[in-house]
Amino acid sequence: MKDDGYAVRAEGLEKRYGEKRALDGFDLTVRAGTVHGLLGPNGAGKTTAVRILSTLIRLDGGRATVAGLDVARQAREVRARIGLTGQYAAVDEVLTGRQNLEMFGRLFHLGGRRAKARAAELLEQFDLTDAADKGVGDYSGGMRRRLDLAASMILTPAVLFLDEPTTGLDPRSRGEVWDSVRALVAGGTTVLLTTQYLEEADRLASRITVIDRGRAIADDTPDGLKNRVGGDRVEVVVAERSDIPRVVKVVARVSDGEPEADETELRVHAPVTDRVAALTDVARTLQDEGVRVEDIGLRRPSLDDVFLRLTGHRTEKEAAA
Ligand SMILES: Nc1ncnc2c1ncn2[C@@H]1O[C@H](COP(=O)(O)OP(=O)(O)O)[C@@H](O)[C@H]1O
Ligand SMILES: [Mg+2]
Repeated sequence: MKDDGYAVRAEGLEKRYGEKRALDGFDLTVRAGTVHGLLGPNGAGKTTAVRILSTLIRLDGGRATVAGLDVARQAREVRARIGLTGQYAAVDEVLTGRQNLEMFGRLFHLGGRRAKARAAELLEQFDLTDAADKGVGDYSGGMRRRLDLAASMILTPAVLFLDEPTTGLDPRSRGEVWDSVRALVAGGTTVLLTTQYLEEADRLASRITVIDRGRAIADDTPDGLKNRVGGDRVEVVVAERSDIPRVVKVVARVSDGEPEADETELRVHAPVTDRVAALTDVARTLQDEGVRVEDIGLRRPSLDDVFLRLTGHRTEKEAAA
């Protein structure tokens, strides 16, 4: 296939492990120069898809191109154009951040001087200059992920696969990794990012493919996906059942949809676009009207909300809980 503006094209991918269909007719297109989110729960097939596209494992059916090259027939050429970071960093604990990057540079045949220069550039780009000469054993989780990202960028790949880059990180480290990913794309690299967090895909990706049991079940913009799910909601819990109609009326004023009332939980919730303004307005009005509010807050749709809407079932982890 020629370069048609797509960095990744996959059609009907299949991968079986014995009876298990890890991929079961999986389709994906990723526009060049964008971040594309592959969103799905544990076991959905994300890592399998990434491994096939990065030529680490072979497909059993279907076909795929990366950077216009066939992953089955042109694996070596594909490998020269991609970067891959896994869920678990491949950096050496004993070495410093700088030594790790210089080592990767030499592995890619950069030569001593260019390897050093590239390491220094990447340390700067990923905000690791201050920690450059510390042993990686002393890095925080977020710093390690950033180093892992930097290592995958030694040769500025055309397409970078990030497999759950922030799983297990605290919110602050997660934010730091997000900043690094944004910087990558500004440099022209196409990113395919797998995640279990709707919020992460929403923050970073211009398009999201939702994967369930080895198949793509939705492909949309983050806004399109959130609209299907209902977007952000304001939620009020009251002390008295008799207050519910009043709360519905107040919430309806700030909502861009129908408020829903749950009589048993004394809860009213409604979709809102301007989250903070809506929350402030509702809180103030209810206080002025003397309504006893037990709890009030904003709720962003989660992966579970997406799944419930798209499939009618919860993610398996949630169902087990
Ligand atoms: N090497 C393997 N052998 C057997 N089953 C596997 C193997 N790799 C993945 N699977 C199974 O394939 C399914 C998809 O796995 P995976 O692609 O790792 O999902 P995800 O990355 O979305 O969590 C899971 O049910 C998993 O148990
Ligand atoms: Mg995985």
